[in-house]
Amino acid sequence: MKEHLLWHPVCGADELKGAPLPVRLLERELVLWRDAAGQARAFTDRCPHRGARLSLGRVQQGVLECPYHGWQFDAGGQCVKVPALPAFQPPAGHKACTHAVAEQAGLLWVRLDGDAPVPSLDGEHDARLRKLTVGPYDVASSAPRIVENFLDLSHFGLVHEGWLGDRAHLAQHDYRVEASAAGLLATGCKAWQPRSNRLSSVGSEVEYTYAVTAPYTAVLTKLPAQQGGYRDVISLLVCPTELERSRVWFRLAVTDFDSTDDELRAFQHTIFTQDQPVLESQTPRRLPLSGGELHSAADRLSAAYCRYLREQGITFGVC
Ligand code: FES
Ligand code: CO
Repeated sequence: MKEHLLWHPVCGADELKGAPLPVRLLERELVLWRDAAGQARAFTDRCPHRGARLSLGRVQQGVLECPYHGWQFDAGGQCVKVPALPAFQPPAGHKACTHAVAEQAGLLWVRLDGDAPVPSLDGEHDARLRKLTVGPYDVASSAPRIVENFLDLSHFGLVHEGWLGDRAHLAQHDYRVEASAAGLLATGCKAWQPRSNRLSSVGSEVEYTYAVTAPYTAVLTKLPAQQGGYRDVISLLVCPTELERSRVWFRLAVTDFDSTDDELRAFQHTIFTQDQPVLESQTPRRLPLSGGELHSAADRLSAAYCRYLREQGITFGVC
């Protein structure tokens, strides 16, 4: 499997309104726009006539019009009008390059090629959980480094001291990592947290699972503290815009129906902006590496993730 055959989030669904929207994915320029039915469409952002950027054009009556000579393209990419030749019927070969688009978790996802189905996100269809998308964050690192950071258990008491851990509780519990149908699953992950949930003021140990469900999608599930409690699910969704640049969202599916959207966003924002400077300082920015870093037993999830990337044929981040 290669990156261009996967679905990638590219923008918030509400970012795409009436005007064409340029986005970047895997170092390619794309244009998103909405057809007459409001359906999102994705084309390569290049007019097949003389190569102008279609995103500089406009959407008129359900077609995308190029800014240069006004060629018009319908929802399927077919050129339907060449204004300089009003009687001309453009042949089937007069087409823009199209890509599949889907909407999920408040985001628009694009698959450049192939026929893989849209992956479903854990917690997304559980009506007992409240959903909220946080982001985007533009990050100067590769998608795998960002996933590795999300899967990293042993930085909480340092990078997130007072929030997700503290220096008195850095020792890492043993945990298990196994292959799953979707990718990887780590269970028995435990962390001491100063405030283990929003209602508690004392620290305690919380238990997590981590799942990698696609090369650039990772899911943290906080297990319920009491019987009957619902789990909280936080998914990390990364768009590999370039080799060493990414766009990041978090999708929350949580039990907290009391906090405001801004309060939930503020917490996630604090945590990620604590991670970001350290993450962006890491060199090399790309993964998987063929050597050059030291591992301890506490890093087995990170090591398993790099093996998984290699098995999946994910090499975008590596020369
Ligand atoms: Fe697009 Fe000519 S370059 S219509
Ligand atoms: Co962190």
